[in-house]
Amino acid sequence: MTSTDQRTARAAHADDAERDLLEHFRAVRAGSLARAAPLSAEDQQAQSMPDASPTKWHLAHVTWFFETFLLTPFLHGYRAFDPAFGYLFNSYYETVGPRHPRPARGLITRPGLERVLAYRAHVDAAMERLLASDPPAEVAELVVLGLAHEEQHQELILMDVLHLFAQMPGHPAYRAIPAEQSADAGPMGFVDFDGGLVEIGANRRRYTSTLGRQWNLGPASQRLKDLHAVIRDATEACIAEMRAGVAAVVPHEAAKRVIAKAGLDQYRMHTTGYGMAPGFPPSWGESPNVFGGSSDILKAGMVVSIEPNVFLAQEGLGARLIDNVIITESGAELLSRTPRDLVIVG
Ligand SMILES: [Fe+2]
Repeated sequence: MTSTDQRTARAAHADDAERDLLEHFRAVRAGSLARAAPLSAEDQQAQSMPDASPTKWHLAHVTWFFETFLLTPFLHGYRAFDPAFGYLFNSYYETVGPRHPRPARGLITRPGLERVLAYRAHVDAAMERLLASDPPAEVAELVVLGLAHEEQHQELILMDVLHLFAQMPGHPAYRAIPAEQSADAGPMGFVDFDGGLVEIGANRRRYTSTLGRQWNLGPASQRLKDLHAVIRDATEACIAEMRAGVAAVVPHEAAKRVIAKAGLDQYRMHTTGYGMAPGFPPSWGESPNVFGGSSDILKAGMVVSIEPNVFLAQEGLGARLIDNVIITESGAELLSRTPRDLVIVG
């Protein structure tokens, strides 16, 4: 390939990347409006509790992100749509300036919804100009971050609206779901299977603790007993290595060694544990990440979920135990005294 060909190929690649990013930007921005589409202006104004935000606020806040972190620094000559919006629609970015208190977001009746939508259109048009202007590489990274942030707020819109509607007499539906014509499922009966995992937990301020134990309907097979014993040993090996100052990868390696010694390493899922996180099941953990490659260091006071596991798809078998500990200077304090034994039911 000549150097001219290489330059042409690079330029074509850059064009593709730019077009992909623009399409991604348009899709995510349209996605937020689609989430709001079933809602009236009044629905989008209400705030049902201090921990929730109005849909209108979400729509404006994610737009403020693009204006503040992309358009203002990178689009030459850009002028803010309304300088007052920085105070109203900042969330927690202290370095950018003061912000309106979260519990009072529902009191922001001005700007109205129409003006917020005009704000979105204004910022979208400016973002299209920015993306077409051959911006520096960090712009693409920030756009991707801004879009991930907007997608997070799309989830929050749905969550907050469901809470809002749950407070309302009649409990309106966010969206009507047409009744499905279901096929006859046949007579009801029990289905035999070898075992299962049961997870119980508690939730506080969106942080969900999960305690996982292995149950079996009827006598357990020797194979399941063996798998369970390996995971129980891995849990103990993991906890034994946990204390403040230790790299998070150390307890992970301890659990992994036990599983590998039993010849099961290829059936192990990637993570041994993570900091307790919001949601159930948590789709991501918070620091510290207890898995290979983690650079986190355990600190006193961290609450960590530990869940060594193996899943053998071909055998239709799996074993996992979940425990939660608080890291201390000298070790790890278990938050549950529930035995880790295999529980036989029936
Ligand atoms: Fe945010």
